[in-house]
Amino acid sequence: MAKKKRDEVDAEPQVLNHGNDGSHDTKKKKKNKTIEKEQKKALVDDVDITTPTVSIALPGSIIDNTQSFELATRLAGQISRAATIFRIDEVVVFDNQSEPSNDSQVTADDENESGTAFLIRILKYLETPQYLRKTLFPKHNSLRFVGLLPPLDAPHHLRKHEWAPYREGVTLAQQAPSSGTTLVDVGLSKNVVIDELVEAGRRVTVAMGTNRQLDDEPHEVVTSSKPREKAGMYWGYKVRYAPNITSVFEQSPYKGGYDYLIGTSEHGHIVKSSELELPPFRHLLIAFGGVAGLEECFEEDKNLKGKDPREVFGMYLNICPHQGSRTIRTEEAVFICLQYFQEPIDRVLKSVN
Ligand SMILES: C[S@@+](CC[C@H](N)C(=O)[O-])C[C@H]1O[C@@H](n2cnc3c(N)ncnc32)[C@H](O)[C@@H]1O
Repeated sequence: MAKKKRDEVDAEPQVLNHGNDGSHDTKKKKKNKTIEKEQKKALVDDVDITTPTVSIALPGSIIDNTQSFELATRLAGQISRAATIFRIDEVVVFDNQSEPSNDSQVTADDENESGTAFLIRILKYLETPQYLRKTLFPKHNSLRFVGLLPPLDAPHHLRKHEWAPYREGVTLAQQAPSSGTTLVDVGLSKNVVIDELVEAGRRVTVAMGTNRQLDDEPHEVVTSSKPREKAGMYWGYKVRYAPNITSVFEQSPYKGGYDYLIGTSEHGHIVKSSELELPPFRHLLIAFGGVAGLEECFEEDKNLKGKDPREVFGMYLNICPHQGSRTIRTEEAVFICLQYFQEPIDRVLKSVN
């Protein structure tokens, strides 16, 4: 897919407009401090999530095997839908590189981006509420068929007339009414004010409260995990890039890392969903392989080469025994497996609550 002809060239996926630059020195200093504080807060709070999380990991190479851009887009859309339907907190897309590189290097403005970069871009795009996409995602060649995909219709993809305790927004460059505040577009008929200085173009989660008079008090910015923790609302997934499968396991964004790893394979153990006993977990990760499975992903990783996946994963499971087709494709396996894990995960969550 990545080698196919592209007819548009565009820019970065998450370009942030810089406005409201605070030419006054003290204002600028205060602003930088606030941004630092805010970034730190977001970082710490997001990784120190109190509710249990479920992550999935899959190789970006699944995109490279598609026959066309449309089919690649469709596949990315299916992963995004599966993650949303089953309330997944994090989707990790991995490569099989030996050298570390980060997400922004991978998704740099590249007309011929890799399957991994393509998948990351579409997953992020679909997870973003529609009203924020124009600001956060400049046109890109890889996004040209996203309009064909079914929407996620997730709880944070709110319509203009809907009221919810939280809303996703983007900070604006426009002058806010008072110092130390910022205007935010939360997809309502009016912009709201938040009680912090934040650079323009940043995605934020805003606590909306119950007062529907948008002009009144400034609103509070909260971490993106708050809606889930406080109101039990599914609030979308994060997308993470991992240069290889070792980094999937070792570079968890969560404090303390993943505490339980599950591998999926036709060569795994067969256990009925109703009989599967998962240990209590804080951060669970379920891994999927590509065309040649997780065993091949291990072989391509210098740290895991020669290792049996059964030694690395707490469980290595065959979830669809007696399959009628010789192969279950990764995008099909994601749906089948997440359905299979629903009840066992629910049992754990009920037992820890
Ligand atoms: C095309 S399959 C890979 C087939 C490969 N021959 C193998 O050894 O796993 C792609 C991925 O789908 C998932 N998968 C396929 N069949 C599965 C099954 N019966 N149980 C659990 N996962 C499966 C696994 O994550 C696998 O790596």
